Amino acid sequence: MSGRFDLVVHDVTLHDGTGAEGRTASLAVANGRIARIDDTITAPAEREIDGTGLALSPGFIDVHTHDDRAILATDMAAKLTQGVTCVVVGNCGISLAPLPGSGGVVPPLDLIARGPGDLFARYADYLSAVADAGPVVNMVGLVGHSTLRLATMDRLDRAAMGPEARAMRDLLDRALDDGAIGLSTGLYYEPANAASTVEILQVAEPLARFNGVYTTHLRDEADGVLDAMEEAFEIGRGADVPVVLSHHKVTDARNRGRTAETLPVIAARAAEQPVTLDVYPYNASSTVLEAKRATEVDRIIITWSKPRPDLAGRELSDIAAEMACSRVEAVARLQPAGAVYFSMAEEDVRRVLQFPMTMVGSDGLPHDVRPHPRLWGTFPRVLGHYVRDVGLFGLPEALRRMTSLPAARFGLTGRGVLREGAFADMVLFDATRIADMADFAEPTRAAAGIRAVWVNGVEACRDGVTTGARGGRVLRNADLTAKAFS
Ligand code: ZN
Ligand code: CU
Repeated sequence: MSGRFDLVVHDVTLHDGTGAEGRTASLAVANGRIARIDDTITAPAEREIDGTGLALSPGFIDVHTHDDRAILATDMAAKLTQGVTCVVVGNCGISLAPLPGSGGVVPPLDLIARGPGDLFARYADYLSAVADAGPVVNMVGLVGHSTLRLATMDRLDRAAMGPEARAMRDLLDRALDDGAIGLSTGLYYEPANAASTVEILQVAEPLARFNGVYTTHLRDEADGVLDAMEEAFEIGRGADVPVVLSHHKVTDARNRGRTAETLPVIAARAAEQPVTLDVYPYNASSTVLEAKRATEVDRIIITWSKPRPDLAGRELSDIAAEMACSRVEAVARLQPAGAVYFSMAEEDVRRVLQFPMTMVGSDGLPHDVRPHPRLWGTFPRVLGHYVRDVGLFGLPEALRRMTSLPAARFGLTGRGVLREGAFADMVLFDATRIADMADFAEPTRAAAGIRAVWVNGVEACRDGVTTGARGGRVLRNADLTAKAFS
């Protein structure tokens, strides 16, 4: 190298992602990596930025996404404008592969797939498609258990029989060999809730050999949350793999405050087996529209409806009043559809956010007509609202939970930290101005305060506008290091 850097950010407050206090430094990038960190850097660069008054952090790792198709079909503005440089796809039991044959797309797979044409017979085909498209952010992928069920079972309303479970196991084995990093379940959902613990254990058998992870949308996040957590831990022990409890919460008014029960259980378990969790910073959830939720949750907003796209963004109660029918009947008329449910207590959201093991995952639904604002706002909301304005915890700690912590958990070697030699996945932001601008009324507004985002050294976003650069990579399981849980 001629000594000329691709980029130098001068005199910035550098947060290295480890939780250490920020310090003033300059950082140089060459060939997609961090080439130098020093008090001052005088060597010439293609591009120089004065970072005075700004913060530089490793790019954020969104550990829970449904960006499986968005990464193929969109510019990922919802994520890049937040400072996200890596996404984990395939969560909640749904992935676009492996699904040989032309099985129908049943809910909740319809959150990410429009029809059979969006599906891939082999996991390798899916990863190749993403790599060929040139992703704008880095990506790792999980295999969805509900997708495996669709691929192998003629009816989904029962537990798998032996040969079906073995067929799922073999599909998972091959997908892991193709580069998937683990298995996800969505046992809460119909019809995946018909799966038994034994079925999951049979399917999960290959995970340990590939250093895979098991992520789960628990069977029950309400009254039975503690039993559902025990099921997840049992599966982790049986399969001998780390467990990730997805979007941890307790729902419904009568369970208010019960994260005071769940978090100590998670902490105690973590001393015995590898366990972790993620959260999104909102007291409303979002998924497919379900009749059972219409009887449990007061306030529900429709996010999309196939027969009535005009009603996206409206309250279910108002729709029912206009239709002169019950809310449950209105749900039936809107199907298939998605919804936002105001079903959590703010005190529980804050308690989970404050818990030192908690990572951040948006759980955003990128194809919804009127999505939950977590899709566009999650990371700035933690840093602006909860860290700066509410003061829940400090900025270095919040950044650690979005960068080095998830990088270690998912084995993302050379990412999640700012140090010489690491990949230049970075976000430059104004800590005094960073804020989520998306809300339930205007859910697709880009965050404020994010100045620039680089993915593998390529500038992917500048002042809230994506550049169109495709600097991301598909990270295959074999390229990763062992997932670190300690
Ligand atoms: Zn979920
Ligand atoms: Cu999810």
